[in-house]
Order: sequence, then C-alpha cells, then structure tokens
Amino acid sequence: MGNYSPPQGEFEVRLFEEDLAIVHFMNFEAAPERYHAMPYGRCGRSGLLLPRLALGLWHNFGEPDAPAISRKLLYRAFDLGITHFDLANNYGPPPGSAEIFFGSVMKQDFKRYRDEMIIATKAGYRMWPGPYGEWGSRKYLIASLNQSLRRMGIDYVDIFYSHRPDPDTPLEETCSALADMVRQGKTLYVGISSYTPEQTFHAAEMLREMGTPCLVHQPSYNLFNRWVEDGLLETLSNQGMGCVAFSPLAQGLLTNRYLQGIPSGSRAAKMHGFLKADAVREKLPAIEKLHTMASRRGQTLSQMALAWVLRRPEVTAALIGASSVAQLEENVKCLDQLQFTDEELVSFDKVIHA
Ligand SMILES: NC(=O)c1ccc[n+]([C@@H]2O[C@H](COP(=O)([O-])OP(=O)(O)OC[C@H]3O[C@@H](n4cnc5c(N)ncnc54)[C@H](OP(=O)(O)O)[C@@H]3O)[C@@H](O)[C@H]2O)c1
Repeated sequence: MGNYSPPQGEFEVRLFEEDLAIVHFMNFEAAPERYHAMPYGRCGRSGLLLPRLALGLWHNFGEPDAPAISRKLLYRAFDLGITHFDLANNYGPPPGSAEIFFGSVMKQDFKRYRDEMIIATKAGYRMWPGPYGEWGSRKYLIASLNQSLRRMGIDYVDIFYSHRPDPDTPLEETCSALADMVRQGKTLYVGISSYTPEQTFHAAEMLREMGTPCLVHQPSYNLFNRWVEDGLLETLSNQGMGCVAFSPLAQGLLTNRYLQGIPSGSRAAKMHGFLKADAVREKLPAIEKLHTMASRRGQTLSQMALAWVLRRPEVTAALIGASSVAQLEENVKCLDQLQFTDEELVSFDKVIHA
C-alpha cells in the first residue's frame, strides 16, 4: 500500500477566472494543513490513492436533515484530509436529495477543490417507476448516471458503482455499460458493491477484457458482519481490486451511541433510519463488552471498531457515516492506534459468538 506525503513548502495556485467571481460568495476555505495527518492507501493495483477513511452520505444529508450540520460535516471531512465522498442515486430521503445537497455544496464551496476530490455514486436500487428504474440493465445504469451528474452539477464522477448484483441481467451487459461510461468520460473508474466472490471474479475478468479494470468493491464489513472474510477479500487481492468497507460501525451499534438506551435523533430512533431498535437490543450485551475492551486499549469503541476493519491489508478504506462533526473527529483518531494483539482478536471473537 503506497502512501502519500505532501510536498514540503507552500505554493500559490492561480484560480480560473470564473472561480474568481464566486470566491467572494464562498463560505468555505479549505485548511492549508488538510494533507498533513490523513494516510492515503493505494486502491488495489490502481494508480488511485484513497484516504483510509471516506465519508458516506447515505444518512444525514437528506431533506429531513439540518443542512447547516450536513454542510459542516463535508467541510470538516475535507479539512481532515477526507477527499473521498460516497453517494448513490437513492440516498436521501427522498431518493436523489443527498446528491442535490452535495451538488449545492459543490457549486458554492467545493468547486475549486474538485480535482482534490473523489466523488463516487451508484445505481442499483429503485429510483423511478417502471421496468427501467432499478437493477443492472444498460438502460437503467446509464440513465441513472446521467441523472446523478445533473443533480450534483458536475461533468463526471470519479467512481461509479453497480450498487448490487442483478440476478436477471447478464453480467456482461452490466459490465459493458460500466466500461462505456468510462469511455464516455462520465466516470473515471468503476466499481461493484455487494457482489459475491464468484460474481466479483467474473466482473473483474470481464471488465479487464473490456479495457476498464474494476477499481474497487464496496462490501459491508464490521465486527458483527464478516462475510467478506469468506472468500471476497482473497478474490479482491487476487484481482488487484481495492476494498472500501461500508457500515464499519454497524450503523452506529459499534459506538457509544446506544450504551444508555436509544437517544432521540439517533439512527435507531428515526422513522427513516435503517437501523432497527431490535438490532440495538439484541447486540447490546456484546456492545457493552467491546466498549470495555476499547477503553483498555485507550480508544473509544468507534475508534477500535474502525481500526479493526482497517487492520486487513485488503481494506483500502473504511466508509463511515456521521451525524456530527464531533463524531467525525472522534473517528479519525482511530488512525493513531491500528495495531491489535492476537489475544485481543481472539477475545473479540469470543464476545461476538457468545
Ligand atoms: N454499497 C452499499 O450498498 C451501502 C450500504 C450502506 C452504506 N453504504 C455507504 O457507507 C456509508 C456509511 O454507512 P453507515 O452510515 O451505515 O456507516 P457507519 O459508520 O457504520 O454508521 C454511521 C452512524 O454511526 C453513528 N456514529 C458514527 N460515529 C459515531 C461516534 N463517534 N459516536 C457515536 N455514534 C457514531 C452515527 O449514527 P447517528 O446518525 O445515530 O448519530 C452515524 O450516522 C454510507 O453513507 C454509504 O455511503 C453503502
């Protein structure tokens, strides 16, 4: 895994004329020290370096959410060296609203930093009525990427993902649509999400033959959910693909969020949150034990859970969500302590399988 070290010394960059006009209206000026602390890892065998933590906009960037907080989260993430922002056509609610919100920040505040950013989006889940509004057909994927670009007001994304495998569309059709998007300049790289090891192998082989190697897989991975260890990580390593692990905190279960019950405003309390109160109750005994173990390491539970995901060399980045700047700042400190003893790893297994 290659690392990025910022060059020594400051240099001044000329803005484009069009940017000079908007610079007066911008609320955001990026911190000059933004590249000093975050480590960047190579995504598989590609040329792309990604920050070890990425920020996802699945929750907390939709219409019911406070735009001032969502905006601050994006600003702070970028100032912390998080250059990688993960979206999907359906993030909100309502679907599409997270991309529209991100687009507004892009236009007003992030425009001059576009080339410092990795913006990812996806298509796979239901977006519009009728037979062309979901899954993996060429018709759906290409229409959806065009819509995402319009919502975000950008010319291209950096990574476009097939969000889920489609059991009914030939994989070759999905892959050729992805390859064509790269050729059209609408995305720089392509990836897949939640594909099985076998589907991943075939997609990687096809995309390589089509001349557009598959950059990355985005699977769920956390202390409670280790399906990727059963063949997927090995496939990614063999194929030279990166791994961006989503929900590394199990949607907030692997944090101190639920130690004293379910707070109002938390994901488990929200009508539109994907985390169910039953999951909190079921996992609480394990969460309490893991919290004690984290304290012994001098970390919070979220920091330990992120370090645990990042311990695997196949994992390029942990893709987190956050509802406050304080959570983001706490989580980034996981990078100070990424090592585990064998005894610790065994004791986690015992807690989780108790
Ligand atoms: N490819 C896919 O199919 C797929 C599926 C799901 C997600 N994703 C991507 O992965 C991203 C992350 O998923 P996720 O949001 O489930 O990730 P996560 O990091 O597992 O959970 C994030 C949630 O945990 C809580 N949290 C985070 N840090 C905390 C801290 N220090 N203390 C207390 N609570 C903390 C917050 O919940 P509260 O809101 O309650 O504060 C936050 O919203 C998504 O935004 C999306 O980009 C992809």
